Amino acid sequence: TVGAAGAAGLALGAAGGALVHSEVSGSGTAGSGGAPGSLGATRVDFQGDHQAGITTPLQAKGHVLAFDLAPGAGRTEAAALMRRWSDTARRLTAGETAPVADTGIALGSGPSSLTVTFGFGHSFFERTGLTARRPAALDPLPDFSADRLDARRSNGDLWVQIGSDDALVAFHALRALQKDAGEAARPRWQMNGFNRSPGATASPMTARNLMGQVDGTNNPKPTEADFDRRIFVQGTVPPEHAWMVGGSYAVVRRIRMLLDHWDQQSLAQQEQVIGRTKATGAPLTGGDETTAPALDKIGADGKPVIPSNAHARISAPAQNGGAAMLRRPFSFHDGIDADGAPDAGLLFICWQADPSRGFVPVQRKLDRGDALSEFIRHESSGLYAVPPGARAGEYVGQRLLE
Ligand code: HEM
Repeated sequence: TVGAAGAAGLALGAAGGALVHSEVSGSGTAGSGGAPGSLGATRVDFQGDHQAGITTPLQAKGHVLAFDLAPGAGRTEAAALMRRWSDTARRLTAGETAPVADTGIALGSGPSSLTVTFGFGHSFFERTGLTARRPAALDPLPDFSADRLDARRSNGDLWVQIGSDDALVAFHALRALQKDAGEAARPRWQMNGFNRSPGATASPMTARNLMGQVDGTNNPKPTEADFDRRIFVQGTVPPEHAWMVGGSYAVVRRIRMLLDHWDQQSLAQQEQVIGRTKATGAPLTGGDETTAPALDKIGADGKPVIPSNAHARISAPAQNGGAAMLRRPFSFHDGIDADGAPDAGLLFICWQADPSRGFVPVQRKLDRGDALSEFIRHESSGLYAVPPGARAGEYVGQRLLE
Protein backbone atom coordinates (compact mmCIF):
# COMPACT_ATOMS: atom_id res chain seq x y z
CA THR A 1 0.00 0.00 0.00
CA VAL A 2 1.06 3.57 -0.39
CA GLY A 3 1.13 4.11 3.33
CA ALA A 4 3.77 1.43 3.70
CA ALA A 5 5.73 2.42 0.63
CA GLY A 6 7.93 4.83 2.47
CA ALA A 7 8.23 2.82 5.66
CA ALA A 8 11.94 2.18 5.42
CA GLY A 9 13.00 5.40 3.80
CA LEU A 10 10.96 8.48 3.22
CA ALA A 11 8.22 7.36 5.57
CA LEU A 12 6.11 10.25 4.70
CA GLY A 13 2.72 11.52 3.80
CA ALA A 14 1.88 13.52 6.90
CA ALA A 15 0.93 17.18 6.70
CA GLY A 16 1.39 18.67 3.27
CA GLY A 17 0.49 16.29 0.55
CA ALA A 18 -1.66 13.68 2.23
CA LEU A 19 -1.96 10.61 0.06
CA VAL A 20 -5.41 9.49 -0.88
CA HIS A 21 -6.49 6.47 -2.85
CA SER A 22 -9.51 7.65 -4.74
CA GLU A 23 -11.58 6.77 -7.71
CA VAL A 24 -10.84 9.79 -9.82
CA SER A 25 -13.88 11.03 -11.65
CA GLY A 26 -12.74 14.55 -12.46
CA SER A 27 -13.69 16.13 -15.73
CA GLY A 28 -10.29 15.37 -17.20
CA THR A 29 -10.84 11.64 -17.18
CA ALA A 30 -14.22 11.83 -18.89
CA GLY A 31 -14.37 9.55 -21.87
CA SER A 32 -11.31 7.65 -20.78
CA GLY A 33 -13.10 4.34 -20.58
CA GLY A 34 -13.03 3.45 -16.90
CA ALA A 35 -11.24 4.34 -13.70
CA PRO A 36 -7.43 4.24 -13.58
CA GLY A 37 -5.67 1.50 -11.63
CA SER A 38 -4.58 2.04 -8.04
CA LEU A 39 -1.25 3.59 -9.05
CA GLY A 40 -3.08 6.04 -11.29
CA ALA A 41 -5.76 6.77 -8.70
CA THR A 42 -3.36 7.85 -5.97
CA ARG A 43 -3.79 11.55 -5.36
CA VAL A 44 -1.61 13.88 -3.31
CA ASP A 45 -3.31 17.02 -2.00
CA PHE A 46 -1.98 20.23 -3.56
CA GLN A 47 -3.22 22.32 -0.63
CA GLY A 48 -1.92 22.03 2.90
CA ASP A 49 0.35 23.61 5.49
CA HIS A 50 3.35 22.65 3.36
CA GLN A 51 3.66 22.21 -0.37
CA ALA A 52 3.43 18.65 -1.63
CA GLY A 53 6.61 17.06 -3.00
CA ILE A 54 8.66 17.53 0.18
CA THR A 55 7.44 14.76 2.48
CA THR A 56 5.63 12.89 -0.29
CA PRO A 57 7.14 9.42 -0.93
CA LEU A 58 9.59 9.41 -3.84
CA GLN A 59 7.84 9.21 -7.19
CA ALA A 60 9.02 7.15 -10.14
CA LYS A 61 9.44 10.12 -12.48
CA GLY A 62 10.57 13.69 -11.88
CA HIS A 63 11.26 16.90 -13.76
CA VAL A 64 13.00 19.83 -12.15
CA LEU A 65 13.13 23.14 -13.97
CA ALA A 66 14.11 26.72 -13.41
CA PHE A 67 12.60 29.74 -15.16
CA ASP A 68 13.78 33.34 -15.35
CA LEU A 69 11.26 36.16 -15.44
CA ALA A 70 11.20 37.71 -18.90
CA PRO A 71 12.76 41.17 -19.44
CA GLY A 72 10.24 43.71 -18.21
CA ALA A 73 8.31 41.24 -16.07
CA GLY A 74 8.16 42.16 -12.39
CA ARG A 75 6.04 41.61 -9.34
CA THR A 76 2.66 41.92 -11.09
CA GLU A 77 3.58 39.42 -13.78
CA ALA A 78 5.14 37.08 -11.20
CA ALA A 79 1.98 37.15 -9.08
CA ALA A 80 -0.21 36.44 -12.10
CA LEU A 81 2.07 33.57 -13.12
CA MET A 82 2.01 32.02 -9.64
CA ARG A 83 -1.77 32.23 -9.74
CA ARG A 84 -1.90 30.48 -13.13
CA TRP A 85 0.63 27.86 -12.06
CA SER A 86 -1.18 27.16 -8.79
CA ASP A 87 -4.51 26.87 -10.58
CA THR A 88 -3.06 24.39 -13.08
CA ALA A 89 -1.25 22.39 -10.39
CA ARG A 90 -4.39 22.27 -8.23
CA ARG A 91 -6.35 20.77 -11.12
CA LEU A 92 -3.75 18.38 -12.50
CA THR A 93 -2.91 16.95 -9.07
CA ALA A 94 -6.63 16.17 -8.69
CA GLY A 95 -6.61 14.29 -12.01
CA GLU A 96 -8.44 17.02 -13.91
CA THR A 97 -7.48 18.64 -17.20
CA ALA A 98 -5.42 21.84 -17.42
CA PRO A 99 -7.51 25.03 -17.20
CA VAL A 100 -6.45 26.19 -20.67
CA ALA A 101 -6.05 24.16 -23.89
CA ASP A 102 -5.25 20.81 -22.33
CA THR A 103 -2.87 18.81 -24.53
CA GLY A 104 -4.57 15.45 -23.86
CA ILE A 105 -1.28 13.78 -22.95
CA ALA A 106 -2.67 12.50 -19.64
CA LEU A 107 -6.22 11.73 -20.79
CA GLY A 108 -7.36 8.51 -19.18
CA SER A 109 -4.67 8.68 -16.49
CA GLY A 110 -5.41 9.39 -12.87
CA PRO A 111 -3.24 11.86 -10.95
CA SER A 112 -0.66 9.11 -10.36
CA SER A 113 0.70 10.82 -7.21
CA LEU A 114 1.44 14.00 -9.17
CA THR A 115 2.98 16.78 -7.12
CA VAL A 116 4.06 20.23 -8.28
CA THR A 117 6.31 22.25 -5.98
CA PHE A 118 7.27 25.90 -6.56
CA GLY A 119 10.24 27.90 -5.25
CA PHE A 120 11.88 31.31 -5.60
CA GLY A 121 15.61 31.83 -6.23
CA HIS A 122 17.78 34.67 -4.90
CA SER A 123 17.47 36.68 -8.14
CA PHE A 124 13.64 36.56 -8.02
CA PHE A 125 13.63 39.23 -5.31
CA GLU A 126 15.56 41.81 -7.33
CA ARG A 127 13.36 41.17 -10.32
CA THR A 128 10.19 41.73 -8.29
CA GLY A 129 11.49 44.61 -6.13
CA LEU A 130 11.12 42.51 -2.99
CA THR A 131 14.70 42.34 -1.69
CA ALA A 132 13.56 43.66 1.72
CA ARG A 133 11.50 40.49 2.10
CA ARG A 134 14.33 38.12 1.10
CA PRO A 135 15.48 35.94 4.00
CA ALA A 136 19.21 35.58 4.69
CA ALA A 137 18.71 31.82 4.39
CA LEU A 138 18.53 32.42 0.63
CA ASP A 139 22.02 33.96 0.46
CA PRO A 140 24.07 32.21 -2.24
CA LEU A 141 25.68 28.97 -1.18
CA PRO A 142 29.44 29.15 -0.54
CA ASP A 143 31.88 27.78 -3.10
CA PHE A 144 33.13 24.27 -2.40
CA SER A 145 36.56 23.15 -3.59
CA ALA A 146 35.22 20.23 -5.60
CA ASP A 147 32.49 22.23 -7.37
CA ARG A 148 32.48 21.97 -11.15
CA LEU A 149 29.34 24.03 -11.63
CA ASP A 150 27.74 24.99 -14.92
CA ALA A 151 26.16 28.42 -14.40
CA ARG A 152 23.66 27.84 -17.23
CA ARG A 153 22.24 24.88 -15.34
CA SER A 154 22.29 26.56 -11.93
CA ASN A 155 20.07 28.95 -9.97
CA GLY A 156 17.19 30.82 -11.71
CA ASP A 157 14.36 33.14 -10.59
CA LEU A 158 11.69 30.44 -10.25
CA TRP A 159 11.99 26.72 -9.55
CA VAL A 160 9.48 23.98 -10.30
CA GLN A 161 9.68 20.36 -9.18
CA ILE A 162 7.26 17.90 -10.77
CA GLY A 163 6.93 14.31 -9.53
CA SER A 164 4.59 11.52 -10.56
CA ASP A 165 4.50 7.75 -10.65
CA ASP A 166 3.59 7.97 -14.35
CA ALA A 167 5.92 9.50 -16.95
CA LEU A 168 3.08 10.78 -19.17
CA VAL A 169 1.36 12.48 -16.24
CA ALA A 170 4.66 14.16 -15.31
CA PHE A 171 5.32 15.34 -18.88
CA HIS A 172 1.74 16.56 -19.20
CA ALA A 173 2.23 18.75 -16.14
CA LEU A 174 5.53 20.03 -17.52
CA ARG A 175 3.91 21.11 -20.79
CA ALA A 176 0.97 22.77 -19.08
CA LEU A 177 3.21 24.75 -16.73
CA GLN A 178 5.53 25.78 -19.54
CA LYS A 179 2.55 27.09 -21.51
CA ASP A 180 1.29 28.96 -18.46
CA ALA A 181 4.64 30.72 -18.26
CA GLY A 182 3.77 32.38 -21.57
CA GLU A 183 5.43 35.73 -21.99
CA ALA A 184 6.15 36.12 -18.28
CA ALA A 185 9.00 33.67 -17.77
CA ARG A 186 11.45 31.66 -19.86
CA PRO A 187 12.86 28.22 -19.13
CA ARG A 188 16.44 28.45 -17.86
CA TRP A 189 17.25 24.77 -17.35
CA GLN A 190 15.50 21.46 -17.05
CA MET A 191 16.57 18.11 -15.61
CA ASN A 192 14.76 14.81 -15.67
CA GLY A 193 15.01 12.04 -13.13
CA PHE A 194 13.57 8.77 -11.97
CA ASN A 195 13.23 6.40 -9.05
CA ARG A 196 12.06 2.85 -8.81
CA SER A 197 8.42 2.30 -9.76
CA PRO A 198 6.00 1.53 -6.94
CA GLY A 199 5.35 -2.21 -6.82
CA ALA A 200 8.70 -3.16 -8.37
CA THR A 201 10.03 -4.66 -5.14
CA ALA A 202 8.33 -7.43 -3.19
CA SER A 203 8.50 -5.46 0.03
CA PRO A 204 8.57 -1.68 0.23
CA MET A 205 12.12 -0.60 0.89
CA THR A 206 14.30 2.45 0.73
CA ALA A 207 15.27 3.47 -2.80
CA ARG A 208 18.56 2.56 -4.44
CA ASN A 209 20.70 5.06 -6.33
CA LEU A 210 22.72 4.37 -9.49
CA MET A 211 25.72 3.21 -7.47
CA GLY A 212 23.43 0.48 -6.19
CA GLN A 213 23.34 1.76 -2.62
CA VAL A 214 20.30 1.87 -0.41
CA ASP A 215 19.96 5.66 -0.15
CA GLY A 216 17.69 7.54 2.26
CA THR A 217 17.91 5.32 5.33
CA ASN A 218 18.93 7.88 7.91
CA ASN A 219 16.68 10.65 6.71
CA PRO A 220 14.82 12.56 9.40
CA LYS A 221 11.37 10.99 9.85
CA PRO A 222 8.10 12.93 10.19
CA THR A 223 7.39 10.93 13.33
CA GLU A 224 10.45 12.43 15.07
CA ALA A 225 9.80 15.26 17.52
CA ASP A 226 12.24 17.69 15.85
CA PHE A 227 11.27 16.89 12.24
CA ASP A 228 9.17 20.00 11.66
CA ARG A 229 11.72 22.29 13.25
CA ARG A 230 14.48 20.86 11.09
CA ILE A 231 12.63 20.88 7.77
CA PHE A 232 10.07 23.71 7.88
CA VAL A 233 10.43 27.41 8.68
CA GLN A 234 8.93 28.12 12.10
CA GLY A 235 6.83 31.08 13.21
CA THR A 236 9.75 32.75 14.98
CA VAL A 237 11.04 34.63 11.89
CA PRO A 238 10.82 38.47 11.62
CA PRO A 239 7.52 39.82 10.20
CA GLU A 240 9.04 40.63 6.78
CA HIS A 241 9.81 36.93 6.37
CA ALA A 242 6.51 35.64 7.75
CA TRP A 243 5.47 34.64 4.22
CA MET A 244 7.92 31.71 4.54
CA VAL A 245 6.43 30.23 7.74
CA GLY A 246 5.59 26.61 6.91
CA GLY A 247 7.92 26.77 3.91
CA SER A 248 11.29 25.09 3.40
CA TYR A 249 14.56 25.65 1.53
CA ALA A 250 15.51 23.29 -1.29
CA VAL A 251 19.14 22.75 -2.29
CA VAL A 252 19.37 21.18 -5.74
CA ARG A 253 22.67 19.74 -6.99
CA ARG A 254 23.21 17.78 -10.18
CA ILE A 255 25.80 15.27 -8.96
CA ARG A 256 27.42 13.21 -11.69
CA MET A 257 28.49 9.74 -10.59
CA LEU A 258 31.76 8.52 -12.11
CA LEU A 259 30.22 5.10 -12.54
CA ASP A 260 32.99 3.41 -14.52
CA HIS A 261 35.47 4.26 -11.74
CA TRP A 262 32.94 3.16 -9.11
CA ASP A 263 32.20 -0.13 -10.82
CA GLN A 264 35.90 -1.03 -10.77
CA GLN A 265 35.89 -1.13 -6.97
CA SER A 266 35.34 -4.41 -5.18
CA LEU A 267 32.16 -4.83 -3.16
CA ALA A 268 34.16 -4.50 0.06
CA GLN A 269 35.74 -1.24 -1.14
CA GLN A 270 32.36 0.15 -2.14
CA GLU A 271 30.93 -0.67 1.27
CA GLN A 272 33.85 1.05 3.04
CA VAL A 273 33.14 4.23 1.06
CA ILE A 274 29.68 4.55 2.58
CA GLY A 275 30.05 2.56 5.81
CA ARG A 276 26.99 0.44 5.04
CA THR A 277 26.47 -2.84 3.17
CA LYS A 278 25.30 -2.60 -0.40
CA ALA A 279 22.71 -5.38 -0.27
CA THR A 280 20.67 -4.27 2.74
CA GLY A 281 22.02 -0.85 3.73
CA ALA A 282 22.88 -2.16 7.22
CA PRO A 283 25.81 -0.44 8.95
CA LEU A 284 29.14 -2.28 8.64
CA THR A 285 28.98 -2.74 12.42
CA GLY A 286 26.04 -5.12 12.02
CA GLY A 287 22.29 -5.39 12.38
CA ASP A 288 19.80 -4.44 9.71
CA GLU A 289 19.11 -1.25 7.76
CA THR A 290 17.53 0.51 10.73
CA THR A 291 20.24 -0.44 13.27
CA ALA A 292 22.21 2.58 14.49
CA PRO A 293 25.85 2.49 13.28
CA ALA A 294 28.36 1.76 16.08
CA LEU A 295 30.76 4.53 15.07
CA ASP A 296 33.20 3.80 17.91
CA LYS A 297 33.60 0.10 17.11
CA ILE A 298 37.21 -0.91 16.35
CA GLY A 299 37.96 -3.93 14.14
CA ALA A 300 40.60 -6.68 14.57
CA ASP A 301 43.00 -4.54 12.51
CA GLY A 302 42.77 -1.76 15.13
CA LYS A 303 40.89 0.57 12.76
CA PRO A 304 37.28 1.81 13.01
CA VAL A 305 34.93 -0.71 11.37
CA ILE A 306 33.13 2.24 9.79
CA PRO A 307 36.11 4.10 8.28
CA SER A 308 36.90 7.61 9.47
CA ASN A 309 36.17 9.01 5.99
CA ALA A 310 33.03 6.91 5.32
CA HIS A 311 30.29 9.05 3.78
CA ALA A 312 27.61 8.03 6.29
CA ARG A 313 29.92 8.82 9.22
CA ILE A 314 30.99 12.26 7.98
CA SER A 315 27.49 13.38 7.00
CA ALA A 316 25.71 12.25 10.19
CA PRO A 317 24.08 15.01 12.26
CA ALA A 318 26.10 14.02 15.35
CA GLN A 319 29.31 14.89 13.45
CA ASN A 320 27.96 18.24 12.25
CA GLY A 321 26.55 20.00 15.27
CA GLY A 322 23.11 18.49 14.64
CA ALA A 323 22.88 19.74 11.03
CA ALA A 324 20.24 17.68 9.25
CA MET A 325 18.27 17.73 6.02
CA LEU A 326 15.65 15.64 4.29
CA ARG A 327 17.17 14.12 1.14
CA ARG A 328 14.59 13.48 -1.59
CA PRO A 329 16.48 12.88 -4.84
CA PHE A 330 15.86 11.54 -8.31
CA SER A 331 18.42 9.57 -10.32
CA PHE A 332 19.27 10.84 -13.80
CA HIS A 333 20.70 9.40 -16.97
CA ASP A 334 21.20 11.78 -19.89
CA GLY A 335 22.94 9.43 -22.33
CA ILE A 336 26.52 8.37 -22.88
CA ASP A 337 29.46 10.74 -23.41
CA ALA A 338 31.80 10.46 -26.40
CA ASP A 339 34.29 8.57 -24.22
CA GLY A 340 31.64 6.01 -23.28
CA ALA A 341 31.06 7.30 -19.76
CA PRO A 342 27.42 7.50 -18.69
CA ASP A 343 26.16 11.03 -18.01
CA ALA A 344 24.32 9.73 -14.98
CA GLY A 345 24.03 10.39 -11.28
CA LEU A 346 21.86 11.92 -8.65
CA LEU A 347 19.60 14.96 -8.83
CA PHE A 348 20.31 15.62 -5.17
CA ILE A 349 17.44 17.60 -3.66
CA CYS A 350 17.47 18.26 0.05
CA TRP A 351 15.06 20.14 2.29
CA GLN A 352 15.71 22.10 5.43
CA ALA A 353 14.38 25.01 7.47
CA ASP A 354 17.74 26.78 7.05
CA PRO A 355 20.57 25.69 4.73
CA SER A 356 23.15 27.07 7.17
CA ARG A 357 22.01 24.36 9.59
CA GLY A 358 21.52 21.72 6.89
CA PHE A 359 23.28 21.35 3.56
CA VAL A 360 26.06 23.94 3.99
CA PRO A 361 27.94 22.60 7.05
CA VAL A 362 27.55 19.00 5.88
CA GLN A 363 28.79 19.73 2.36
CA ARG A 364 31.72 21.74 3.82
CA LYS A 365 32.69 18.67 5.78
CA LEU A 366 32.22 16.27 2.85
CA ASP A 367 34.24 18.64 0.66
CA ARG A 368 37.21 18.29 3.01
CA GLY A 369 37.60 14.61 2.36
CA ASP A 370 34.77 12.16 2.16
CA ALA A 371 35.52 8.76 0.66
CA LEU A 372 32.69 9.24 -1.85
CA SER A 373 34.19 12.44 -3.30
CA GLU A 374 36.47 10.72 -5.82
CA PHE A 375 33.46 9.01 -7.38
CA ILE A 376 31.19 12.06 -7.82
CA ARG A 377 31.22 15.56 -9.34
CA HIS A 378 28.85 18.41 -8.45
CA GLU A 379 27.88 19.92 -11.81
CA SER A 380 25.12 22.41 -11.01
CA SER A 381 23.62 24.09 -7.99
CA GLY A 382 20.48 25.90 -6.94
CA LEU A 383 18.97 27.17 -3.71
CA TYR A 384 15.28 28.05 -3.54
CA ALA A 385 12.85 29.40 -0.97
CA VAL A 386 9.83 27.13 -1.20
CA PRO A 387 6.84 28.90 0.34
CA PRO A 388 4.25 27.13 2.47
CA GLY A 389 1.36 25.28 0.83
CA ALA A 390 -1.57 27.20 -0.58
CA ARG A 391 -4.86 27.40 1.28
CA ALA A 392 -8.20 27.06 -0.52
CA GLY A 393 -8.46 29.85 -3.09
CA GLU A 394 -4.88 30.96 -2.52
CA TYR A 395 -1.90 30.68 -4.85
CA VAL A 396 1.59 29.59 -3.79
CA GLY A 397 3.63 32.63 -2.81
CA GLN A 398 0.58 34.87 -2.38
CA ARG A 399 1.66 35.90 1.11
CA LEU A 400 4.80 37.40 -0.47
CA LEU A 401 3.45 38.73 -3.74
CA GLU A 402 0.00 40.18 -3.08
C1 HEM B 1 23.77 9.16 3.80
C2 HEM B 1 24.80 8.30 -0.83
C3 HEM B 1 25.61 13.03 -1.55
C4 HEM B 1 24.22 13.91 2.98
C5 HEM B 1 24.01 8.51 2.61
C6 HEM B 1 23.96 7.09 2.42
C7 HEM B 1 24.21 6.85 1.12
C8 HEM B 1 24.47 8.13 0.48
C9 HEM B 1 24.23 5.50 0.41
C10 HEM B 1 23.68 6.04 3.52
C11 HEM B 1 22.24 5.69 3.67
C12 HEM B 1 21.37 6.82 4.15
O1 HEM B 1 21.32 7.13 5.35
O2 HEM B 1 20.72 7.40 3.29
C13 HEM B 1 25.09 9.51 -1.42
C14 HEM B 1 25.46 9.68 -2.81
C15 HEM B 1 25.69 11.01 -3.01
C16 HEM B 1 25.47 11.67 -1.75
C17 HEM B 1 25.56 8.56 -3.81
C18 HEM B 1 26.10 11.73 -4.26
C19 HEM B 1 25.91 11.27 -5.47
C20 HEM B 1 25.33 13.68 -0.37
C21 HEM B 1 25.40 15.10 -0.18
C22 HEM B 1 25.00 15.34 1.09
C23 HEM B 1 24.68 14.06 1.70
C24 HEM B 1 25.85 16.12 -1.23
C25 HEM B 1 24.88 16.66 1.83
C26 HEM B 1 25.66 17.68 1.70
C27 HEM B 1 23.94 12.70 3.55
C28 HEM B 1 23.41 12.57 4.91
C29 HEM B 1 23.29 11.20 5.15
C30 HEM B 1 23.74 10.53 3.95
C31 HEM B 1 23.05 13.70 5.85
C32 HEM B 1 22.77 10.54 6.42
C33 HEM B 1 23.88 10.35 7.41
C34 HEM B 1 23.37 9.73 8.69
O3 HEM B 1 22.69 10.43 9.44
O4 HEM B 1 23.63 8.55 8.92
N1 HEM B 1 24.34 9.12 1.42
N2 HEM B 1 25.11 10.74 -0.82
N3 HEM B 1 24.90 13.09 0.77
N4 HEM B 1 24.13 11.46 3.01
FE1 HEM B 1 24.69 11.09 1.13
